[in-house]
Amino acid sequence: MKASLAIALSAAAAVTVATPLSAAKRAACPATPSTANFSDTKLTNPFVFADGTSVTTKEDWACRAAELSALLQDNELGVIPPPPTSLTSALSGNKLTITASNGAPSISFTVTLNMPAGATATSPVPAVIAFGGLSIPLPAGVASIIFDNSGFGEQNDQSSRGVGLFFDLFGSDASAGAMSAWAWGVSRIIDALEQTPESGVDLSRLGVTGCSRNGKGALVAGAFDPRLALVIPQESGSGGAGCWRISDAMFADGVVTQTASEIVQENVWFGLAFNAFANNVTALPVDHHFLPALVAPRGLFVIENTFFDWLGPLSTFGCMSTGQTAFTALGVTDNMGYKAVNHSDHCAFPAAIQPQLTAFFDKFFFGQDTDTSVFSTDGGFIFDKDEWITWETPTLSGSLVQEI
Ligand SMILES: *[C@@H]1O[C@H](CO)[C@@H](O)[C@H](O)[C@H]1NC(C)=O
Ligand SMILES: *[C@@H]1O[C@H](CO)[C@@H](O)[C@H](O)[C@H]1NC(C)=O
Ligand SMILES: *[C@@H]1O[C@H](CO)[C@@H](O)[C@H](O)[C@H]1NC(C)=O
Repeated sequence: MKASLAIALSAAAAVTVATPLSAAKRAACPATPSTANFSDTKLTNPFVFADGTSVTTKEDWACRAAELSALLQDNELGVIPPPPTSLTSALSGNKLTITASNGAPSISFTVTLNMPAGATATSPVPAVIAFGGLSIPLPAGVASIIFDNSGFGEQNDQSSRGVGLFFDLFGSDASAGAMSAWAWGVSRIIDALEQTPESGVDLSRLGVTGCSRNGKGALVAGAFDPRLALVIPQESGSGGAGCWRISDAMFADGVVTQTASEIVQENVWFGLAFNAFANNVTALPVDHHFLPALVAPRGLFVIENTFFDWLGPLSTFGCMSTGQTAFTALGVTDNMGYKAVNHSDHCAFPAAIQPQLTAFFDKFFFGQDTDTSVFSTDGGFIFDKDEWITWETPTLSGSLVQEI
């Protein structure tokens, strides 16, 4: 079967990628002051706006999430552009080809859909978008969608800056690092699936995953597109589930983990704006506890590995514990889980994590009331909350409006 459909997406109807708030709602949010002289040695309070106003309601939280999104893009990731003015998709066998443009030029890329038998438009199935290939087991009845993120935004070394399909569209001098490019690509895959019900993918049950560098990317993509119901970064380490400030402290304590100053030399996952902070993360107005905060209240299961110091086991545990406060503030603590186990095979999936992974799939894809309360590491360390967190987690009143 082959289907092709062209839709011109008007700006007004556009899916909001970088923030779940409409322009009108955003205009009513507190303005973000300059963060030029920002300074914080701790993990910055997610529940206070940059102008000092407290976040007390879920409506406030939607505004603060939009602010966190903008701060992450401006200072670290580079800008994730709005949707293209034209997006077309064509399904041929198990290949979905997506063509996007803002006038000229246009780019095309193809993802592979591995569908379980019996998936149809009237009987659609959940699906997981996998960066570069699948490295976690999926339950029966769940599709995988393989995204060649490395072709979309290259990640070989410094020479990959501005190289890949995304940059063919937006220019090699776009501010986006590779992870912002990939996040934009994931959102276009979802746009294309929305146009293609005959694919048999259920848009209300979409997940995203990836391991290592691609796990960093999966967490970022999950943070920036609210259409992803379940986010599963695997062994993403520092630069993904880790916080820069904790990684620097680990390094100072003699644990050789990946730090901001190393990562900006190694590759192009972040935008060039991040370079200014790489040797002084105290001045960085964000950290990675803001990524799970943007995923909240959706499902998030963080898989880590304590074998490799490089992944920053203490950093990811502490950073994600801190980020989980956003889920707690929204009344859904258990929508986020974390499990780190020691095994020497980077990106292999340990059987010890299977029960919790199954519980997350069953809750977010199959509507079951499973126990997803997991927050554990076998790393044998203590995360000193009093050292890193100087604020209280509020219980936010009201209701959360996500405009998609
Ligand atoms: C930042 O600090 C410098 C030096 O003290 C000062 O000149 C500048 O106005 C400050 N900028 C902001 C936005 O506060
Ligand atoms: C790091 O940034 C902070 C906050 O802007 C500043 O106070 C401090 O002097 C900077 N340290 C270095 C070594 O540049
Ligand atoms: C992980 O297991 C190895 C043995 O395979 C052991 O040498 C190492 O100390 C363990 N690491 C941690 C953090 O427990």
